[in-house]
Amino acid sequence: MLSNLMLLFISILVSSFIFTTHSYNNKCLRHQEILLLQLKDELIFNSSLSTKLVRWNESGECCKWHGVECDASGYVVSLQLDGEAISGGVGDSSSLFRFKYLQKLNLAYNDFGYTHHIPKGIGNLTYLTHLNLSNAGFVGQVPSEISSLTRLASLDISANSLNLEHPNLEMLVQNLTELRELHLDGVNMSSFHERKSQGHIISSHLPNLTTLSMVGCGLYGPLPQSFWQLHSLSILRLDENDLSAVALHDLVSNFPSLATLTLSDCRLKGCIPSTFANLTKLIHVDLSHNSLTGSLPSTLFANLIKLIHVDLSLTP
Ligand SMILES: *[C@@H]1O[C@H](CO)[C@@H](O)[C@H](O)[C@H]1NC(C)=O
Ligand SMILES: *[C@@H]1O[C@H](CO)[C@@H](O)[C@H](O)[C@H]1NC(C)=O
Ligand SMILES: *[C@@H]1O[C@H](CO)[C@@H](O)[C@H](O)[C@H]1NC(C)=O
Ligand SMILES: *[C@@H]1O[C@H](CO)[C@@H](O)[C@H](O)[C@H]1NC(C)=O
Ligand SMILES: *[C@@H]1O[C@H](CO)[C@@H](O)[C@H](O)[C@H]1NC(C)=O
Ligand SMILES: *[C@@H]1O[C@H](CO)[C@@H](O)[C@H](O)[C@H]1NC(C)=O
Ligand SMILES: *[C@@H]1O[C@H](CO)[C@@H](O)[C@H](O)[C@H]1NC(C)=O
Ligand SMILES: *[C@@H]1O[C@H](CO)[C@@H](O)[C@H](O)[C@H]1NC(C)=O
Repeated sequence: MLSNLMLLFISILVSSFIFTTHSYNNKCLRHQEILLLQLKDELIFNSSLSTKLVRWNESGECCKWHGVECDASGYVVSLQLDGEAISGGVGDSSSLFRFKYLQKLNLAYNDFGYTHHIPKGIGNLTYLTHLNLSNAGFVGQVPSEISSLTRLASLDISANSLNLEHPNLEMLVQNLTELRELHLDGVNMSSFHERKSQGHIISSHLPNLTTLSMVGCGLYGPLPQSFWQLHSLSILRLDENDLSAVALHDLVSNFPSLATLTLSDCRLKGCIPSTFANLTKLIHVDLSHNSLTGSLPSTLFANLIKLIHVDLSLTP
């Protein structure tokens, strides 16, 4: 009797599990499938290196195709096309920009050969929360259309051959109030210093920015006021810029929540300030390849109980 009850109970459990998984099994919408196949057809990619696109075909549920995710109604919301050896076929009128509910787009590690600009059509994808175009071989000015993607929480355009001039960084992020992560490594930002225009734009508008990476961006001289207002930063990477005009003390006192601070090869001068001891959340610090001087009192690190990694190499 007991075992019969148990069996019944288990079978109810199992059937309700099957029922639940079924009801969440997003059915591919025919027009989304057609759009996906159209996109595959337009994209120029090396099919012997592709692992996802190359397998998109009409057999099977399109929401389960590799790199594709749909929402409960069957609209495509995520396209992970990173590392697909794509070398072209993403013009401004590409089918890509007709997935109007797309939230996540990853085109990182593709092969646009430094001959393609970031397409302006990207501005049509107003639901995007995650945009990753890193290491893709894009060239030229970052299009202002990105500044209208006001839902972006994460933007990664690092390691291409890009310029941020018109718009400059402040204009680009002016309305991107939801940003949490911003990766701009290798983007030429020499105009970050032209402070004539928008003084405090970053400050008032990026309250939630916790990660900022600007390695090798051609920064030099004093940094704009707006930068110093990013008080929520937890990860800050500014390696390979000329920060000889920046006081380490200011970096320490303006960003009290830092867990990672990397400033390798930044032409930093002077000594490590005693206020460094206030950065109690610090885990990783890299100050290598600078011209820092002075001694390191043991009190400096006494309160930094989370510290795992400190690199002060090649510092006289
Ligand atoms: C595609 O990749 C393979 C493997 O790397 C390479 O041999 C081939 O030449 C590539 N094809 C094209 C058209 O680039
Ligand atoms: C069609 O897609 C299925 C599932 O991804 C795959 O196993 C099959 O090889 C594909 N067929 C062709 C012709 O690409
Ligand atoms: C992008 O939006 C503009 C204006 O709404 C529209 O004219 C254009 O056709 C759209 N592009 C694509 C590829 O959907
Ligand atoms: C962008 O995509 C690449 C490759 O998938 C990944 O390594 C990188 O971490 C991504 N960037 C962000 C900010 O998630
Ligand atoms: C930001 O939004 C405001 C108000 O909607 C608008 O006037 C301004 O042009 C936008 N800025 C950018 C850079 O898109
Ligand atoms: C910042 O994050 C908090 C907590 O996640 C959220 O409540 C708030 O709306 C965010 N602010 C903006 C401007 O996105
Ligand atoms: C960066 O952009 C500025 C202004 O457009 C230009 O003068 C400079 O040569 C660029 N630097 C690099 C390394 O491309
Ligand atoms: C930071 O450190 C200095 C001296 O090392 C100390 O006087 C100051 O009160 C500290 N500030 C905070 C906010 O802890």
